[in-house]
Amino acid sequence: MRLKGKIAIITGAAQGIGLAIAQRYVAEGASVMLSDVNEQALKAVASTLAMPFIVADASIKADIDALIARTIQDFGRIDIMVSNAGVINDPVDFLNLKEEDYDRVMAINLKSQFLGGQAAAREMVRLGTQGVIINMSSVNARLAIPTLMPYAVSKAGSTQLTNVMAIGLAEHGIRVVAIGPGTILTELAREAALQDDASRRRVLSRTPMRRAGEPSEIASIAVFLASDDASYITGQTIYADGGRLGLNYTVPVND
Ligand SMILES: NC(=O)c1ccc[n+]([C@@H]2O[C@H](COP(=O)([O-])OP(=O)(O)OC[C@H]3O[C@@H](n4cnc5c(N)ncnc54)[C@H](O)[C@@H]3O)[C@@H](O)[C@H]2O)c1
Repeated sequence: MRLKGKIAIITGAAQGIGLAIAQRYVAEGASVMLSDVNEQALKAVASTLAMPFIVADASIKADIDALIARTIQDFGRIDIMVSNAGVINDPVDFLNLKEEDYDRVMAINLKSQFLGGQAAAREMVRLGTQGVIINMSSVNARLAIPTLMPYAVSKAGSTQLTNVMAIGLAEHGIRVVAIGPGTILTELAREAALQDDASRRRVLSRTPMRRAGEPSEIASIAVFLASDDASYITGQTIYADGGRLGLNYTVPVND
């Protein structure tokens, strides 16, 4: 019970990594305000976990404000803000990328972390809570994929946003950290990286551990970073990628 009595918000909690974090947080003793744009899936998760939920688009300020207000109303404070909601753009080469697709991905992946982080931090400062803010980044903060430019740029922005927020909020006792997953077995990865055998082999050939990660392996990091065990970590992005960022060659994948 490493998060006993803590109050957490998780965006993008209806499935995938956000859902895995919600499940682990509840198991570790936290109360969690669940949030997503997918109302149907969110309701089902909330009912299973016996936690409250609010449908909110993390890229819209009014929705974030409602999410924060509801959490304060229900629980009285915020200890942990997990800005996890994210989307990946449809692969398209740089010359054909549309402005609206760039704006959409930047808003959902990066602006959401600014809005959520700022609104949560304001409440933490107001109430004197020494909280933790966790932003979901990606190995694509560092690794370029030309057809996924908005995604990669949004995640690189998340890394620096985390750093800047950490320095700005340190004097208030608030830590800000990010997690940078490699390929994790969720809908997002199934659509974008593991959609067929050739794609799967391409991903695994760049993964020294020769497997994709499980959402629960990211949730474990989110528990650690939110807990007092990580009390001296701020500003960092912790990568969990099966070794991908250290790789300077491809490895054979036979099956
Ligand atoms: N799966 C991976 O391989 C991987 C790798 C690196 C980073 N990530 C990051 O992890 C996070 C979670 O991804 P996932 O793999 O679980 O994806 P997913 O598609 O399985 O889940 C994402 C969730 O976010 C929700 N969402 C989408 N737009 C939203 C919005 N505007 N406001 C609120 N919620 C919204 C979706 O409804 C969905 O429930 C994302 O930020 C993603 O970029 C994933």
